[in-house]
Amino acid sequence: MAKNLWKTLAAPAVALLLGLGLGALICYVALESSSASDQTRAKTQEGTAMQGRDKTGQAYAKPQHTGTATKKVFLNASQNVDGNTSSLAKELMGGQDYKQVDLAEYRIPQVGQGDGDFNRVWEQLKGADVIVIGTPVYWSNMSGYLKTFIDHVVVNDDLKGADLYLIVQGSDSDQTRAINATYGTLDRVAKRFGLNLVGIAQNRDQAQRLQTVMLGK
Ligand SMILES: Cc1cc2nc3c(=O)[nH]c(=O)nc-3n(C[C@H](O)[C@H](O)[C@H](O)COP(=O)(O)O)c2cc1C
Repeated sequence: MAKNLWKTLAAPAVALLLGLGLGALICYVALESSSASDQTRAKTQEGTAMQGRDKTGQAYAKPQHTGTATKKVFLNASQNVDGNTSSLAKELMGGQDYKQVDLAEYRIPQVGQGDGDFNRVWEQLKGADVIVIGTPVYWSNMSGYLKTFIDHVVVNDDLKGADLYLIVQGSDSDQTRAINATYGTLDRVAKRFGLNLVGIAQNRDQAQRLQTVMLGK
C-alpha cells in the first residue's frame, strides 16, 4: 500500500520540483539581463554626452572659452553660501576671477506661485562665457533650490554659447545616482539653451582635473 502511494506521488513531485527550478532559473536570467541593460544604458548616455577624455580616462566635452578674460559665474544651489559646494567650486576655479550667485540669498517660489527673485538671478547669468552650477546632493539628487530655479526658466538665447560645468557635492563617496539625475536634467537644459556642457566634478580630484580642461590645458 505504502509502496503504491509512493509510486503515485513520486512522478508529480519530481515534475513540481523541476517546474519550480526552471521558473527560478527564468526569473534569474530575466533580472540579470535587465540590470545589465540598465548599466549599458547609463554608460551609453554618459558616453554620447561627453566627448574627449583627460589623462585619467574621464570624459569631457571640449570647452569653447578657455581664456582668462572670460566672464565666469558660479551659481551656488546650496543653503550654505560658504559650505562644501562653494569650496568645491573654488577648487574648480583655482585662482581665476568669478562671481558667486547664491540661490539661498534670493526668494524664488515654486513655479506657478509667481517669479519672486528669479529674474534678478537670471540677469546675473546673462553674458557669462563660463557658468558653473554647483549643487549639494539632497536625497541622491540636486537640491530643491536648483530644481525650483530650473523650473522657472523659459527657453531663450540669453545663455547661448556659454560653457557649462557642474559640481555635485555630497557626503557619500559614490554619487552615481545624483550624478546621473543631475546630469540628465542639466544636459536637457543645456541642449535647449545652446549651452556647452563640458563636465561634472563630485570631489576635489575631479574638480582639479576639470580645471585643467577649463583652462584648455
Ligand atoms: C536634506 C539633505 C539631504 C541629503 N542627502 C544626501 C544624499 O542623498 N547623499 C549624500 O551623499 N549626501 C546627502 N546630504 C549631505 C550633503 O549633500 C553634504 O553634506 C553636502 O556637502 C552639503 O553641501 P553644503 O555644505 O554646500 O551645504 C544631504 C544633506 C541634506 C541637508
